[in-house]
Order: sequence, then C-alpha cells, then structure tokens
Amino acid sequence: MTLLPCPVDSLFDDADALLTPIAEAKQIALCFTPVEGLVAHADQKRLYQVIANLVVNAVKFTPEGGRVDVAAELDSQSSGRLVRFSVTDNGAGMSEDHLSHIFERYWRVREANPKGTGLGLYIARGVVEAHGGTIWAESELGRGTTMYFTLPHADSLINAQG
Ligand SMILES: Nc1ncnc2c1ncn2[C@@H]1O[C@H](COP(=O)(O)OP(=O)(O)O)[C@@H](O)[C@H]1O
Ligand SMILES: [Mg+2]
Repeated sequence: MTLLPCPVDSLFDDADALLTPIAEAKQIALCFTPVEGLVAHADQKRLYQVIANLVVNAVKFTPEGGRVDVAAELDSQSSGRLVRFSVTDNGAGMSEDHLSHIFERYWRVREANPKGTGLGLYIARGVVEAHGGTIWAESELGRGTTMYFTLPHADSLINAQG
C-alpha cells in the first residue's frame, strides 16, 4: 500500500468516466457531487477499488431508472481529520438484520445476484481499515442505501506536522 495525497475531484472524474457506462447500461443516473480542495491520504488504486465496489453494488441493487449519488465532505465529527465519502442509491435497501451481515466474508443475497461472491464489502472494509478509516451503511428496506467510509484527510496531516 502506497499512501499519497489523492485529490478527490480527480478521483471522482476518473470514477465518473469508468463507471458511468455501467450505470447507463441500466438507465441509472450516476452523479458525482463536485468537491473542491479535498485531498485523501490514500493508496489511489485501492481507494478507486472501494468506490467502484460501492457504486457497482448500488447499481446492482437499484432498479432501472434509479439514481446513485457519490459525494465527499470533510468529516465534522473528526474536526477535519477525515474525509467522509458516501454512495447513496434509491434501490432495494436492506432490513436491519440484513445490514448486520453485509461486511462478512462470502455473505450475500442470492436473488437476482447469481454472480455475487459476497467478497466486495469484506475487501472494501479491509482496505478502509488498513488506512485507519471506518466503513458503515445506513439503509431502509424498499427505499435505498447509503454506504459511508472515512479516510485520513491529507491537508490536516500536513497542517498537524507543520
Ligand atoms: N447498495 C446496496 N443495496 C442493497 N443491498 C446491498 C447494497 N450493497 C450491498 N448490499 C448487500 O450486501 C451484500 C454483500 O455485498 P458484496 O460484499 O459486495 O457482495 P456481492 O456484491 O458479491 O453480493 C450483497 O449481496 C447485498 O445483499
Ligand atoms: Mg459487490
């Protein structure tokens, strides 16, 4: 893992270009909220892998015509030490019980998901936690899901050192 400053706006541009065709194939609007001046301290490839994982899940569990929003902001609860990313969909959602299992290895729903491995979120959690971040989900059955994760904010590290 190589940790470097990763500007979130260019990460979002790359993710937009690479993931929009996947969303469009299902007539899902994929929207990246513009961010300015946010810089994650992360391994760029792994950060991309996490975002891609969450967006692919959001598209998979959202019906045609739905919407997926990707955003990032300075995490207020950590007084700016962390960047908090979010991926929100208006798809199938999950019950409380379902939600409590999603980060487990090999756990997955099988209906309409024959090729799922149940590894995506398990791996995403490993990547996020290796950076010192946290990943969690909020969801409502039939209404949609928001996946959140935090990563160190590069600017606050620089300021803390200088
Ligand atoms: N955005 C989402 N909406 C609804 N359910 C989700 C969403 N993301 C993940 N899940 C649930 O979490 C399970 C685990 O996800 P994941 O580890 O990526 O496995 P897979 O995509 O192979 O099924 C999925 O099978 C699904 O039940
Ligand atoms: Mg997945």
